[in-house]
Amino acid sequence: MEEKRVVIEAKNLNKVYGEGEATTYALKDVSIKVYEHEFLVILGGSGSGKSTLLNMIGGMDKVDSGEILVNGNDIVKFNDRELTMYRRKEVGFVYQFFNLLNDITVFQNVTLTPGSDKKRALKLLREVGLLDKKDKFPRQLSGGQQQRVAIARALNKDSDILLCDEPTGALDDASGKAVLKLLEGIHNQGKTIVLVTHTKEIAQMADRIITMKNAKVVSDVINKNVIKAEEVEW
Ligand SMILES: Nc1ncnc2c1ncn2[C@@H]1O[C@H](COP(=O)(O)OP(=O)(O)O)[C@@H](O)[C@H]1O
Ligand SMILES: [Mg+2]
Repeated sequence: MEEKRVVIEAKNLNKVYGEGEATTYALKDVSIKVYEHEFLVILGGSGSGKSTLLNMIGGMDKVDSGEILVNGNDIVKFNDRELTMYRRKEVGFVYQFFNLLNDITVFQNVTLTPGSDKKRALKLLREVGLLDKKDKFPRQLSGGQQQRVAIARALNKDSDILLCDEPTGALDDASGKAVLKLLEGIHNQGKTIVLVTHTKEIAQMADRIITMKNAKVVSDVINKNVIKAEEVEW
């Protein structure tokens, strides 16, 4: 069997918040691998450590110990400048609450990241079905539309990796499904997707499902019954 290339390897990650009686373990000796072109879901209940793990992989927060190799480089060792470049170039991030800037237009949001490309922004806005909204402000769009703008923004870089933290968590079912279909299409175009969710049904879309509980990975399984976004019901 052909060996798949590992694009992300997190090794023995630990993260503790607070101290004394307020000590909370967010990650306890967490190790995961992400393979090129896969759709990986990290599934777990609220507080299990999913967002912490994704934020660490996205270079948005620091682990207490461990390694995070992305395309072979340990981002834990990066200085602030290297981390900024990493976030700009190597990973796209989609948040539960979109995180768009409200005082600039859709097009400006999608082209704000240094190194993003104006022509590609238009192509991406067409792909997410919002080219006609490019000069609107985020508040003039529905939640589902705002999330699609956020996805276009995350894709407007040369990165092959898309990290999504509960991307349907703030959406109604129909908008959530539209976002899942969009992610499915992006995956089919060859992107590597890591999606965090607490919703079991969404996990059925994934090639592989890693389950977290109490700051630990408790299972890591290939999904033998991948379903289409269209079939996901929750
Ligand atoms: N900035 C923080 N300060 C203190 N505790 C935090 C912080 N971020 C996360 N935690 C705690 O770490 C644990 C894991 O949180 P999180 O990764 O957000 O879980 P999930 O995304 O699975 O809901 C929780 O107990 C949470 O309360
Ligand atoms: Mg979370």
